[in-house]
Amino acid sequence: MIALIGGSGFRDFPFYGPTRSEIVSTGWGTASVRVGTVNGREVVFLPRHGWEHSIPPHRIDYRANIAALHELGIRAAIATTAVGSLRRSLPPGAFLVPDDLIDFTRDRTGKTFFDGQPGAPVVHSDLSRPYSEPLRQALIGAATTTGVGIAPAGTYLCTDGPRYETHAEVRLFTHWGADVVGMTGVPETPLAREAGIHYAALSVVTNYGAGISPDPLTHADVEAAMRDARAALFALITQAIIRIDDVNLPAIGPGVALPVGPRGEPNHAV
Ligand code: HPA
Repeated sequence: MIALIGGSGFRDFPFYGPTRSEIVSTGWGTASVRVGTVNGREVVFLPRHGWEHSIPPHRIDYRANIAALHELGIRAAIATTAVGSLRRSLPPGAFLVPDDLIDFTRDRTGKTFFDGQPGAPVVHSDLSRPYSEPLRQALIGAATTTGVGIAPAGTYLCTDGPRYETHAEVRLFTHWGADVVGMTGVPETPLAREAGIHYAALSVVTNYGAGISPDPLTHADVEAAMRDARAALFALITQAIIRIDDVNLPAIGPGVALPVGPRGEPNHAV
């Protein structure tokens, strides 16, 4: 099974045929998913901000979401993210498959499964290449099939949000070599790595970063840009899913069992 994590403006995937809803309970919390098929493969859709888009970036239970995918036996996850562009060459409407990440979040809670539980190992997982290369290539290949242009590499910088940036922050991030800025890639990306899940992001540029465009930014603008991108986004994801061979993906991550979360053993039957 492959997972799709839907970000802002991407609350559901238009599955053909029947779907089923599941509440996945884990020791880290619960997640609500919909399971459908794409080209005969089972795909789990998880709306990151909830079905009503009511959960802001800093309140998302990232550990519950990733633990739920782990619980379902997911080995490959593609996540969509709305981002602000830090480059004139990436205008609103552009797609980017990031190949690197800067963590500018500062809240240190909830960023790891290896939280010093009694008996659990201390784990420092390798994140030198934060995104799964096979999944990135599936997305890049999907762009060729669909004819949708995408930038095949770039650096995603994550802030805590939920506010947008100041002009000075955008200048700083650009200077640091970031290409896009968003609010959800961390801790989702590192947690997926800890859970041994191949993870890649498909970023949709919804706006220029603060100060690059003179206009103030609103969430309504971001949602409108995501609506415009929907058809291309679905086409890219469908083609990428067809290309992902999740059975033969190499092992990834620290290779140790995830510690049981504070709520105890999961009661979800896989
Ligand atoms: N900044 C941070 N997150 C975002 C932006 C932005 O400009 N646009 C969409 N998500």
